[in-house]
Amino acid sequence: MKAQDLVDLKQKAVGEAASAAAPSDLEAVRIKYLGRNGLLPEIMKGLKDVAPADRPEVGRLANELKNELQAAIDSRREALETASGAQKAKAFDTTLPGRWRTLGSRHPVTQIIERATSIFSTMGFTVADGPDIETEHHNFDALNTPQEHPSRDPKDTFYLASGLLLRTQTSPVQIRVMENQKPPVRIIAPGRCYRRDATDATHSANFHQIEGLYIDRQVSMADLKGDLTYFARQMMGENVQIRFRPHFFPFTEPSVEYDFSCHVCGGKGCRVCKHSGWIEISGAGMVNPKVLSNVGYNPNEVMGYAFGMGVERIAMILFGIPDIRLLYENDVRFLGQY
Ligand code: DAH
Repeated sequence: MKAQDLVDLKQKAVGEAASAAAPSDLEAVRIKYLGRNGLLPEIMKGLKDVAPADRPEVGRLANELKNELQAAIDSRREALETASGAQKAKAFDTTLPGRWRTLGSRHPVTQIIERATSIFSTMGFTVADGPDIETEHHNFDALNTPQEHPSRDPKDTFYLASGLLLRTQTSPVQIRVMENQKPPVRIIAPGRCYRRDATDATHSANFHQIEGLYIDRQVSMADLKGDLTYFARQMMGENVQIRFRPHFFPFTEPSVEYDFSCHVCGGKGCRVCKHSGWIEISGAGMVNPKVLSNVGYNPNEVMGYAFGMGVERIAMILFGIPDIRLLYENDVRFLGQY
């Protein structure tokens, strides 16, 4: 056995390992060279016949053959295994049942806002927007809210360190629109409001309103009643009744609160309407002339009506949702029903 024979043999063996097409071929290569009766043990046995001067070199080369061949076999095995895994992954089992994907749905609050927006847009209203973080001026002062009015109390309103506040109503959007636009004005402003209310079945510190404002030369309480009645019928169905009760708001004069007949019991009285047959939707009225002059309008030339309605209220009666908290728990099993 000469040194050169071993170098040639190593090259041949490593080549066979690297080109093995399947794990069984690879195993055959291993047995042929490294197995108990393979070529390498035979070479080791023949080492004693090699001339003593050549022995160390032949021994070293035999070891090198063993190590390099083993490494080639290992790396080829790994490559073959990876390839067969990929092959399996590619195979597609057409008998497997399909995978269901859950289809999302719009949040009930969003649905009410979208429906209301489309109803009011048929009446010529466009959508206006304002910031959630408001100035006291827009949220209270310009809306003619007296300094001592209970709604300004820090027990009811979230004041921020900066002197700003989280708007308690969408009414400040009225002010922002009128400050920037000459009459006539016909807008609705859906948005989020914040109050320091303790949470219960009908109250949440965070809720939504849709504000409405219509300013022109001749606008009357009859327009307000007619428009809100039309809206109520479109939203709740033809049979809904609407009721106005005298009330007070600093920004309207006269002011009313308005109720829809209970959608759940049809006005007969049930748990949802607390057996009154009516559900309070929110406030409205003729815009107070002081508010008009606060934004630079001439109260002798223009007048208007305004309203603000609670979105969650409408969602709850329209969809029969008994507790406002359900709307804010983000449980898709609940939300997906609407
Ligand atoms: N901002 C009032 C509230 O939060 C609702 C309201 C009443 C809005 C009368 C109006 C209005 O625009 O004219 O309770």
